[in-house]
Amino acid sequence: MKLFTKKSKAVVGIDIGTHSIKLVELAGTKASPQVVAWAVVPLPVGAFSENAIANADLVADALNTAMLESGAKAEVAAVAVSSSHAITKVLGMPADIGELELEEQISIEALHFIPYPIDEVNLDFEVIGASESNDQENDVLLVACRRSIVDDYIDLVDTSTLELEYVDIDTYALERVYRSQNSLGAMSDQPVALFDIGSSSSHLMVMDDTRVLYSRHQNFGSSQLVKLIRKEYGVSAEEAEEILNSSQPPGDFLAAVQEPFVEMLRQEVSRALQFFYSSSSYSNIDSVVLSGACCALAGLSGDLEVKLRSKVSVLNPVANADVRTRRDTIAKVAPSLSVAYGLSLRGLS
Ligand SMILES: Nc1ncnc2c1ncn2[C@@H]1O[C@H](COP(=O)(O)OP(=O)(O)OP(=O)(O)O)[C@@H](O)[C@H]1O
Ligand SMILES: [Mg+2]
Repeated sequence: MKLFTKKSKAVVGIDIGTHSIKLVELAGTKASPQVVAWAVVPLPVGAFSENAIANADLVADALNTAMLESGAKAEVAAVAVSSSHAITKVLGMPADIGELELEEQISIEALHFIPYPIDEVNLDFEVIGASESNDQENDVLLVACRRSIVDDYIDLVDTSTLELEYVDIDTYALERVYRSQNSLGAMSDQPVALFDIGSSSSHLMVMDDTRVLYSRHQNFGSSQLVKLIRKEYGVSAEEAEEILNSSQPPGDFLAAVQEPFVEMLRQEVSRALQFFYSSSSYSNIDSVVLSGACCALAGLSGDLEVKLRSKVSVLNPVANADVRTRRDTIAKVAPSLSVAYGLSLRGLS
């Protein structure tokens, strides 16, 4: 696992989810990015489950389709492991030791908190900076993930023409997108809550202008939206997806589906924030930023804003980018591209 390698070569960001594979290739620079290739390809049920690759052949087929559909040209890939499978810890390490000694000490420290045999995990670390509590130490971020999960991604990329250069964590990719659009120091003195809604689960990340203060996974996803539609209109899952993507949803969609979904979302966001408040000295946030495919629902952020009584916006990864391909169709799926976009950002300088 090469979480923190710093090279700059165009990168195809590949985000695999329960519902679909998303792929983004960026060119240009961080300050002036261009989207040169992108695709969203649905995955069959059971291909990816519990945030891991479950049927390698089905996922490989979808990746192949995504590569062809997008016309991606880069030779290097970045993938993301779900934060639900990552163990992270910030360790204080003596500031005056060399790289090799640091590596050794970290491997020893890791034994204390990783609940698996050490030869079954991938470990990586990054020196974040001087420790606030001890001026002789640096804070070092350690990330560990079960080797079997990472190996499935390595095997997947092996089936393509790409070379796997980065294995990242999905929430780090999201954070990268958010920070690429919101420069340091521009945020208020209250933290921002980024709430990412996948189809099967969600993730809350609370950030100030330099750090992630809190991170939490929740079993709530936009599959609830599909459930509501199926119950309300007596349709199949496929038909429910068609309704979601149609430009003319049923007349009572807002009252019968969107309103109850937003109420569920309000409860989930409020609950997640309560956990954050009770574990920190904060009692307020600046705003909530939503991401995930369901943010394509017109009016979602406004509806939630009214219920939450807090500012709500949607993270649009391509907001500052020059979209060079299929510009007219990207808007509808843009909120679902954030992780893939954040992965591809690793190739820009
Ligand atoms: N146009 C749309 N409007 C609203 N909701 C949508 C739309 N398109 C898809 N969705 C919802 O988003 C879900 C897919 O979300 P997303 O692509 O974020 O999931 P995923 O990344 O594949 O899954 P996960 O990350 O949870 O494993 C669909 O099941 C559907 O409920
Ligand atoms: Mg996802």
